[in-house]
Amino acid sequence: MSRKIMIAGNWKMNCLQKEGTDLAKNIALNVKKNKYNCDFLVCPPFTLLSNVKKALRGSKVSLGGQNAHFAEKGAHTGDVSPQMLKDIGCEYVILGHSERRTDHKETSALVAKKAEAAYNSGLKTIICVGETLEQREQGKTIDICSKQVKTSLPKNATAANTIIAYEPVWAIGTGKTPTAKDVEDVHAAIRQVVAQKFGTKTANNMRILYGGSVKPSNSKEFLSLPDVDGALIGGASLKSEDFLAIAKSVC
Ligand code: 13P
Repeated sequence: MSRKIMIAGNWKMNCLQKEGTDLAKNIALNVKKNKYNCDFLVCPPFTLLSNVKKALRGSKVSLGGQNAHFAEKGAHTGDVSPQMLKDIGCEYVILGHSERRTDHKETSALVAKKAEAAYNSGLKTIICVGETLEQREQGKTIDICSKQVKTSLPKNATAANTIIAYEPVWAIGTGKTPTAKDVEDVHAAIRQVVAQKFGTKTANNMRILYGGSVKPSNSKEFLSLPDVDGALIGGASLKSEDFLAIAKSVC
């Protein structure tokens, strides 16, 4: 069993061309210079994918989209297909982020449908799950996350084409985080669900990232946990120093 740490940046709806390409160039330069023992991924908004791809050229930083439609093409105004992401140079796509589940009413069934389409286009997925504050306070965290994992990962998900991100909704962008024990418990429970659905080998090899207010000051604590295989970083991924400091704390 070897799960390489993944340091992933979700830029969300941030950065214009100059800011985004400068950020990508800084990250690429640093990753080339230093020997980090981890995988890097950045997921800029669609408008930046082309220029960020160019800025990352020659580095080992992968590119990902933040969402995709399940259809290959057609009458879906405002949407982008997995094929289009692949075509522009993406290796990954984030699916089922809580902001999409909330803002766009995306269900786990839809996420699974999108994931299948992503695999068919040769993309790997980062599938997000996580409980709301209300659900946590009701003691439903593990139930909610388990159910989301069961229903958001399609049958053809494998350890090679899928990463799960556990992101408690209440920890996103708030500066609040669960305790290390809480994170480990949820990750271990998620791995258990993956084992039940896909077998132990897949569960042992599938990476599970933690996301939600990850910063250089707390990253080591989370990323040293046995079932945490990396981080999906929002705010702190918009500053190359912070993004790289998070990597440095563990890789
Ligand atoms: P923050 O790191 O800003 O809390 O965002 C986490 C996130 O939603 C990453 O997908």
